[in-house]
Amino acid sequence: MPLSATSDRDKDKQGSQPDLSKVTFTFRCIGCGSPTAAAAQDFRCSHCNNLLEITDPSWKLSGPNAAALKSMWRERRSSNATLDLSGVWRFREFLPVPESEQQVVTLREGNTPLYELPLSSRITGVSRLYGKHQGMNPTGSFKDAGMTVAATFARQAGYRWVACASTGNTSASMAAYAARGGMRSLVLVPEGKISWSKLSQALDYGALTCQLRTDFDGCLRLLQELVRRAPVYQLNSINPFRLEGQKTAAIELLEQLDWQPPDHIVLPGGNLGNSSAIGKALLEMLDIGLISHLPKLSVIQAEGANALVRTLREAEGKRLISVPAETRATAIRIGNPASWEKAVKVIQATGGACEQVSEVEIAQAKAEIGAEGVGCEPASAVTLAGLKKLVRQGFVKPDETVVLVLTGNLLKDPDFTMEFHRGDLFRGTPHERAADSLKALRHPPIVLDATLDAVIQTLERAEKSDPAHPNAKSNA
Ligand code: F0G
Repeated sequence: MPLSATSDRDKDKQGSQPDLSKVTFTFRCIGCGSPTAAAAQDFRCSHCNNLLEITDPSWKLSGPNAAALKSMWRERRSSNATLDLSGVWRFREFLPVPESEQQVVTLREGNTPLYELPLSSRITGVSRLYGKHQGMNPTGSFKDAGMTVAATFARQAGYRWVACASTGNTSASMAAYAARGGMRSLVLVPEGKISWSKLSQALDYGALTCQLRTDFDGCLRLLQELVRRAPVYQLNSINPFRLEGQKTAAIELLEQLDWQPPDHIVLPGGNLGNSSAIGKALLEMLDIGLISHLPKLSVIQAEGANALVRTLREAEGKRLISVPAETRATAIRIGNPASWEKAVKVIQATGGACEQVSEVEIAQAKAEIGAEGVGCEPASAVTLAGLKKLVRQGFVKPDETVVLVLTGNLLKDPDFTMEFHRGDLFRGTPHERAADSLKALRHPPIVLDATLDAVIQTLERAEKSDPAHPNAKSNA
């Protein structure tokens, strides 16, 4: 069932002008550059089998003026129209837009906070450090920004079933948007390798959930075969509609910074769809004059799932070096990233870096982001751990502005958090010794008799024995 790539949209009935009445887009192969009007379900080029991207979005054709876009997007923030309430569709001039507004499947995604990170700023020495918290989306991860767009196009194309392979967040998001859009969803996840929290979301949103005895890469391979055989619509980030939606996080970020580009944006890298999407947005924003220069986009991976790091270091980004993936940051436990070429392009185009961090460094950074009162899941914490390295290398300077993209909510992986604070996370692993240094960051729960004395004594002990606490008296 091919998807038509050209869509004439009904005039927007909400009338937050100047709106586009006719929106067109095409698919283009990222390898051979062939344009194509329709994409098959694997979203690959029929000539060279490389991935497709969406090009010629509406703004290219209508040539809107950057200042007009900025003020229109700001104005929409005070509108109660369905599309304007979404922090994704608010930027619809940068998106493929469906035939009618009624097709849009939305949970009011986007509109995520940009937090200052004063403690992490002190730790890294970077004076202006922010966290763009994509974990504050409706299902708790950045996936929602892409899912609203891709689910909309799945519904418009008349699919009854949508499907994905996932390390957890995509499946949670897909299941929610499928449910909202009146579609059924099929989830393929690696058995025993995703957090219960994410799995439970998919169950509650009504997905048909299959735990396969393989890893994420095995699940994705199987999905690719499935979509060729069955009329299911694939919602992995190979689907370029996903990436179009995920672009809006970068647009919203720039709006939050009053269109002053930061010097660096740091992202975690797994299947590499998100880095590609954010990079694409930056290049498009530069193209249209929304920003005057590009931030450097850097991607951080776990040492145990470092395919992109090795691809850039050992093959100059020219061919993928796959790895067997292993990390407790299960969201990025991916060894054969689908969008590696797209990611290489945007890292090189923006002059960014690619680094890897250890399991202990990830755990430390996660606890440090938690101590900000912000929190995130382990995969997101690689950004802070990676930033420390980039500062040590001199790639990031202390007087620069840096934004960490926090991709998932703290509540996504409570097992990791509990094991860390109880001191069990690295027990019996090769990281046990190195993890000793993290003792001061641990705050395990304490079981007490239910007496006032017991609580007061504990309070006094904490005041004396925890001078390293970021909010301790000596640090105030
Ligand atoms: N952070 C989180 C919290 C994620 O869930 C993922 C990917 C990433 C970072 C990496 O993003 O793949 O675009 O490079 N999660 C996918 C999933 C693979 O199935 O939920 P990426």
